[in-house]
Amino acid sequence: MRSLIDIVDLTVEEIDDLIATANDIIANPDKYAEKCHRKKLATLFFEPSTRTRLSFEAAMLELGGSVIGFSGASNSSASKGESVADTAKIVSCYADIIAMRHPKEGAPCVASQAASIPVINAGDGGHNHPTQTLADLLTISREMGRLDNLTIGLCGDLKYGRTVHSLIEAMSRYKGIQFVLISPEELKIPGFIRYNVFENQGIPYTEVSSLEEAMPDLDVLYMTRVQKERFSDLAEYERLKDLYILDGKKLNMAKPDTIVLHPLPRVNEITVDVDSDPRACYFFQALCGKHIRMALILFLLGIKRA
Ligand code: NCD
Repeated sequence: MRSLIDIVDLTVEEIDDLIATANDIIANPDKYAEKCHRKKLATLFFEPSTRTRLSFEAAMLELGGSVIGFSGASNSSASKGESVADTAKIVSCYADIIAMRHPKEGAPCVASQAASIPVINAGDGGHNHPTQTLADLLTISREMGRLDNLTIGLCGDLKYGRTVHSLIEAMSRYKGIQFVLISPEELKIPGFIRYNVFENQGIPYTEVSSLEEAMPDLDVLYMTRVQKERFSDLAEYERLKDLYILDGKKLNMAKPDTIVLHPLPRVNEITVDVDSDPRACYFFQALCGKHIRMALILFLLGIKRA
């Protein structure tokens, strides 16, 4: 039985297969409408979510399955002191697959060790967010036609931004990838990515503090929200939150075929005038999140592609 806790739990071939399945689902949704008949997804969300939870639920419903779960720790027995491991054991009696989001790094991993059904990490603290990465890869491959030979700029909160960590781990396994890390000193990429990916694997990267300077070189610009909920010092958050704002003027410094991604929600990082630029792909990216999660549910439940 497989779970998805870290994006490197999947081989590159498996990721490419998931993308192929998602593309087939987009082209032929009816073929998949009953694939998960009588299967249940449990969404255990101990942290706020709009896109991730609802796209998981929509994914399971569009596969003909059903959904149980809770959003907010206060609505579950966690508020009575139940451990993540016990919750996972209990939910294994009621569902076929779990998607879990938790503020503590490692919680979905603990759940996967206790559960008797597959567990999907839907975001653990400031650590990882593998299913957002799958959505990002589907978006890049549909928009650019490839996942190799790309210069990817990651901008904003690279320290606490879990989507960035998983995206770097995933993209670094494709050929000809270069990263441009755009952040202030205080929000630079953490050691586990710096050493495990960039230094140990010799992946090329540069670190800059200016978005304007990086812009003309990028094929993909990945904007992020400064993760307010991870700061212990709110004054520091206030000081850093609006350092990078992508507006139409800055986007004009990019190549005509650069794409702009953002896992969303955005706060101030992208002005609304950018939304109508054909290079803005973040709403399409949210749609890709549903299709790739459909592919992932089928894969982890061992259900063959149509
Ligand atoms: C991201 C997350 O939860 O890490 N959102 C998402 O899942 N699309 C990004 C964020 O909250 O900033």
